[in-house]
Amino acid sequence: MNTRIYGTDEQDLKTCARLIRSGEVVAFPTETVYGLGGNALSEDSVKKIYAAKGRPSDNPLIVHVASVEAAFALADTVPPVAEKCMRALMPGPFTAVLKKRPFIPDCVTGGLDTVAIRLPAHPVARRLIELAGVPVCAPSANTSGKPSPTAAAHVKSDLGGRIPAIIDGGSCTVGVESTVVDFTTDPPRLLRAGGTTLERIESVAGRVEIYGGGTVALCPGMKYKHYSPEAEVYVAADGDAAEKLRLAYDGFTAQGKRAAIMCLSGTAARMGDRLCYDAGESKADYARSLFATLRRADDEGRDVLLAEGVDSSQEGASIMNRLMKAAGGKTL
Ligand code: TXA
Ligand code: MG
Repeated sequence: MNTRIYGTDEQDLKTCARLIRSGEVVAFPTETVYGLGGNALSEDSVKKIYAAKGRPSDNPLIVHVASVEAAFALADTVPPVAEKCMRALMPGPFTAVLKKRPFIPDCVTGGLDTVAIRLPAHPVARRLIELAGVPVCAPSANTSGKPSPTAAAHVKSDLGGRIPAIIDGGSCTVGVESTVVDFTTDPPRLLRAGGTTLERIESVAGRVEIYGGGTVALCPGMKYKHYSPEAEVYVAADGDAAEKLRLAYDGFTAQGKRAAIMCLSGTAARMGDRLCYDAGESKADYARSLFATLRRADDEGRDVLLAEGVDSSQEGASIMNRLMKAAGGKTL
């Protein structure tokens, strides 16, 4: 299949919206990561999404809408705290899990009686969904298990030849996926840290429980391998990160391995002439560049990527979650 790259003008968005409505799949930019969108009401379309990504079919999809009203319309019941959060945090990198209306197909929700709902802030995403005129289910537009795509080139490298269309809207500004909160419990439960910080959500919702284990993975996607580049990733999780990164880099290099360090600018300045991928000044910068850097390590043939850990307040929670998954839990 030939994968066509589209721009973001109205004509291109209309063409892509038509593709979605007709049961095809289209990769599109959001403020978090690129999504692979299909018509949530078409089983055919949903099957194409799972097939293109190689995604296990019991891992449900987020349904994207173009307005808060359209978000409410997917839910069977909206508890007051959910309504408050949706009005305050949508549009944005925030996903609400609610009891679903029966018209949402089982193949979208992996057979669950709940649906994950998101209203993206990215104007291209919203216009595309509006023009499609249907709810658009979309996972991240990567091959299952690979780092999420934050630029059209990442999507092309994973899914080129497997999907008909990619809308190139430049690089994503948030860089990690949306925060997923389950509102079917009281208090609500955080299922996945993401672009909207827990601090921000709790300022609206009051206490939110952090879902941390048990035998059933509540966010069904959590049980699968994630964000894994070819390079082996290690995280300098606590203590003197700069010292740990230097020692590990020198150790791996002495073994003949091609290593690189991913760290904040302040730390990079202390790495001497070791190869550093600069993650920027702030945690927001780090989140924005993280997935692209995981891919860059592979593009440049690195055997080992040594990542600076950060404290888990604010954006730190989603950074550490993605890093620890990419590392398969390996720390320095
Ligand atoms: O930022 C994002 O959320 C991006 C963009 C494209 O919107 N999408 C995204 O989708 O990250 P995906 O499929 O890569 O991750 C969705 C996560 C998965 O972990 C899935 O298990 C969980 O949301 N999820 C979906 N529906 C759910 C439900 N009904 N209950 C609990 N978790 C659900
Ligand atoms: Mg994903």
